[in-house]
Order: sequence, then C-alpha cells, then structure tokens
Amino acid sequence: MASPILVTGGTGTLGRLVVPRLRDDGRDVRVLSRRSREGGEGIEFVTGDLATCEGIEAAVEGTQIIVHCAGSSKGDEDKARHLVRAASRAGARHLVYISVVGADRIPVASGIDRAMFGYFGSKRAAERAVADSGLPWTTLRATQFHDLMLMTARQMARLPVIPVPAGFRFQPVDPGEVAARLVELALGTPAGLVPDMAGPRVYEMAALLRGYLGAGRMHRPILPVWLPGKAARAFRAGANLAPERAVGRRTWEDFLAARVSSPSGSRSGTT
Ligand SMILES: NC(=O)c1ccc[n+]([C@@H]2O[C@H](COP(=O)([O-])OP(=O)(O)OC[C@H]3O[C@@H](n4cnc5c(N)ncnc54)[C@H](OP(=O)(O)O)[C@@H]3O)[C@@H](O)[C@H]2O)c1
Repeated sequence: MASPILVTGGTGTLGRLVVPRLRDDGRDVRVLSRRSREGGEGIEFVTGDLATCEGIEAAVEGTQIIVHCAGSSKGDEDKARHLVRAASRAGARHLVYISVVGADRIPVASGIDRAMFGYFGSKRAAERAVADSGLPWTTLRATQFHDLMLMTARQMARLPVIPVPAGFRFQPVDPGEVAARLVELALGTPAGLVPDMAGPRVYEMAALLRGYLGAGRMHRPILPVWLPGKAARAFRAGANLAPERAVGRRTWEDFLAARVSSPSGSRSGTT
C-alpha cells in the first residue's frame, strides 16, 4: 500500500484545498492539526503541534511526501525546523514548502521592520531550514491569497476612516490555483526553489479596498499613511510582487463577485 502524503496545515485556507486535489489523484492523505478531527475516506487526521513538537513523530511516520502548509504570523522558522528534524529521522523523500513572494527581498532589520513585517523574515528562515535539511525539497513562493486580502479588507472596513499604507501594492492570487500547483510539485520530482506564483494583476492597496467596499456597497474614506522602515520601503518598491510571474487566472474582481455581497444582497453574511 502506498504511504500517505502528509499535509501540515491541511485544515487551513490553502491546505484544505490541497487535500481534495491529492485525493482526486488517488493518494491517501494524512493531515496534521492541533485539534483532533474525524477522518474520512482516504483522509486521516493526526493531532500535533509543530511549535511544541508534540505528536510530530507520529505525523511523519511512514510518509514519503510531506506538503508543509502549516503557518502563522509568527514562528514559522521554528515550525519548519521541527518538521525537518522529524522528517529527516523518518526518511522522507520529498518535502514541499509554501513560502511567500518577497521572503528574500523584504529586509527585516530593525525593530520596526520586525514588528510589522517579521513574517517575511520567518518565512525566509523557514525556507533555509527546508533547503538545508538534507532532504530532497521543493519550495514555491506565492503572493497573498485572495482570502487573506478579504480578511484584511473586512477588518479595515470596521474603521470609520481606513488608513492604508501609502505606495503599497498587492498581486492577490487564488489559493485554489496555488493548491493545484503545490499538488503538481508534490507529485513531481524535488525541484528546489521553483518560479514564483502570483495573481493576474497588480493593485494599489487602496484599489483593492475600494473594490471590496464597492462590492459590499459600503463607503469609507481612505487615508494614506506613510510607514517607516526598510521593509516598508521594500514594499513600496514592489518587493512583494512578481509581475513577470502573473500566472494566476482568477482576479480580485472575480473573487469578490463570488464572495461578497451588499448588506441587502442575497448572499447574507459574506461581507
Ligand atoms: N495567506 C496568504 O496570503 C499566503 C501567501 C503566501 C504564502 N502563504 C503561506 O501558506 C501557508 C498556508 O497559509 P494559509 O493562509 O492557508 O494559513 P491559515 O489559513 O492561517 O492556516 C494555517 C494552518 O496552519 C496550521 N497550524 C498553525 N500553527 C500550527 C502549529 N503550531 N502546528 C501545526 N499546525 C499549525 C493550522 O492548523 P490547525 O489550526 O488545524 O492546527 C492551519 O491548518 C502558510 O505557510 C503561509 O505562510 C500564505
């Protein structure tokens, strides 16, 4: 019997789109989650925590391919190191990692950089842990997912006036398309750092917000704010973008049309 493919973060935005695609390919899947869950046809859940290492040995045991989608705003380098250590002991044959565009270009030097953009530094450190693991590996860097931009827009729209970092642009990508690419990579041979994956268009942050507000028939003034620090400067220079890799197809407008309606609209509770 083929060994199951381990998907860390298989309950998250990206990971839960990876799991059914692996199943469609006939693969058995093991999902690592911090909470215990019921399995299903060809899907087994293992409880563990990559931050504390609890349950990780059991999660990697008998797996040859690991798709590492678990992540959070802090500490991804430690999670990656812990996974790498366990996967090496278990003799995994392919570790696939999802990182973020700009991980290598957004400097996290000062306290200000760390406070606002520490995520990029920890993704870069996690990338290194994967590349230096001695395991065969593949890393894909993607731009921000539509869902993350939507969550951010929702939070910002709670304010009567919305402060927006001046000069920031984003190139949101559909996580379903990223999931499909990750599955293709996971089932292929280890490829190291592969070309970035970015959404079809680059938008000013204010334009993304206006799109959201318009889709929900909301009105808020937008106030540009200047963010200090080298990381913010790198953002203004477009270090988080990959216009030459605009391979995603689903646009922000398409996503909003499917996910956001006006307060009086028929899709209730989506704004
Ligand atoms: N969101 C974006 O725009 C974006 C862009 C580029 C790259 N990425 C990367 O893509 C990956 C997935 O992002 P996402 O948006 O799908 O994240 P998400 O929706 O926030 O899901 C995070 C996942 O990580 C798991 N997780 C978090 N901490 C964990 C821990 N200590 N031990 C085990 N599992 C843990 C969670 O599982 P449980 O809660 O079930 O334990 C959950 O399944 C991350 O590495 C992220 O950095 C994201």
